[in-house]
Amino acid sequence: MFSRYKKTATAAAKPVKAEKPPEPKIAPSADPAPKPSLRRAPQPAAPRPADKERKRKERMAEIKLDLHRSLLDNLNLAALDTATEADLRQEISSIASEVLEEKGIVLNREDRATLTQELYDEVKGLGPLETLLKDDTINDILVNGPQQIFVERDGKLELSDVTFKDEKHLLRIIDKIVSAVGRRVDESNPYVDARLADGSRFNAMVPPIAVDGSLVSIRKFKKDKLGIDDLISFGAFSEEMAAYLEAAVATRLNIIVSGGTGSGKTTTLNALSGFIDNAERILTIEDTAELQLQQTHVGRMESRPPNVEGKGEVSPRDCLKNALRMRPDRIIVGETRGEEVIDMLQAMNTGHDGSMTTIHANNARDAISRLENMIAMAGIEMPLKAMRSQIASAVNLIVQASRLQDGSRRMVSITEITGMEGDVISMQEVFRFQRTGLSPDNKIVGHYTGTGVRSNFTERFRLWGYDLPPSIYEPVTG
Ligand SMILES: Nc1ncnc2c1ncn2[C@@H]1O[C@H](COP(=O)(O)OP(=O)(O)OP(=O)(O)O)[C@@H](O)[C@H]1O
Ligand SMILES: [Mg+2]
Repeated sequence: MFSRYKKTATAAAKPVKAEKPPEPKIAPSADPAPKPSLRRAPQPAAPRPADKERKRKERMAEIKLDLHRSLLDNLNLAALDTATEADLRQEISSIASEVLEEKGIVLNREDRATLTQELYDEVKGLGPLETLLKDDTINDILVNGPQQIFVERDGKLELSDVTFKDEKHLLRIIDKIVSAVGRRVDESNPYVDARLADGSRFNAMVPPIAVDGSLVSIRKFKKDKLGIDDLISFGAFSEEMAAYLEAAVATRLNIIVSGGTGSGKTTTLNALSGFIDNAERILTIEDTAELQLQQTHVGRMESRPPNVEGKGEVSPRDCLKNALRMRPDRIIVGETRGEEVIDMLQAMNTGHDGSMTTIHANNARDAISRLENMIAMAGIEMPLKAMRSQIASAVNLIVQASRLQDGSRRMVSITEITGMEGDVISMQEVFRFQRTGLSPDNKIVGHYTGTGVRSNFTERFRLWGYDLPPSIYEPVTG
């Protein structure tokens, strides 16, 4: 019988188990052509900037440092806040010209414009981060010490050519960001969350906890959040799934969006909220306000960590408890990660159906285990079965988001919770992303398909006026 694992004649001739091949009697170059490796060829390393370019950059960095010192000496820092942008740019440009002339440095027009912009960013903005923040093609900015800044574009991480001068420079920018929101970061308080003026989510951890220099992670704020139509056109899910989700949200199913870090959970949650009726009162609770709901009646809450003295904390759980007294029609919790899970499940079980949240998990089963763990960690002692039946009656739907290896973000599965069978929560997958292969340029090939299982909520959908055709659940081939 033919097997694709069958060895070729040459390969079969070789001893199978010999750990070491016998000493070659002739020179190795006379060996038959080497067997093609089963592993893929390693990706070529990213091209390094040419030496000339590097030297130019070093020179520019030195000039910039000099100029920055002169600027600090010459600028009236107290007047900075009131100066208009045009005035400040003019001032910086003329101080720069003076210093360059004094030192006999000649720069071309382009270098001079870049230098003035960088100096402006240094004085007024967030220094080297500023260009990356302005670049709309970048989603995430990840700083690993002063010399290494990675950015994420199209779901892929790449090393940028932007650097800080040194750790002190990086720390100064971090300090600028966190002090603007009344927080502090230092050796005794080495990590901090903050929000940038443009709404981007910011986290920093400084030495000595960050061993090789400060670590900064920024999730850029997208002014135009991706809506359902954008997500469909990007291939994040199918029209059928969208129709199903519309019915699920409109008929007030409780939904959990599950996924790994950066997999598109918040984006999906935001897009799903687009299906909520405009007449409803929605309350959102987040650690860092990222959601941008389009409805008119939205109350937004942001939890607050304790201050340096360990006081003033308002936890997500506090917000959630309070939200229940604020007559919400729906509650949306940006991410459930701790003891607030208790109140979230209770809210879902007691009249605030149609609530939604996200959870960090790799698949629907895993999401349920995470919920169980969170309940246990919150110190609630409950028999496992009781805990599970509480979860099963609270959660209706788990939508799994995933960032695949080619950087694409997709909704890989939609699973309904159907009840309990003995001690186990029963669930059924209704839609999934079926991978079929990999294209030559390493893009994942596949399609969305129904699983052939009809939704358990079909009758509910129909009663609420969402008569979905059974054909949407049918499996699609290739
Ligand atoms: N389908 C998509 N196509 C393209 N970009 C997407 C898609 N979904 C999300 N993104 C982008 O990916 C980034 C991460 O998305 P998002 O913030 O929703 O992830 P997350 O899972 O909530 O991350 P975290 O775990 O950090 O909270 C964002 O910049 C978002 O705009
Ligand atoms: Mg998120």
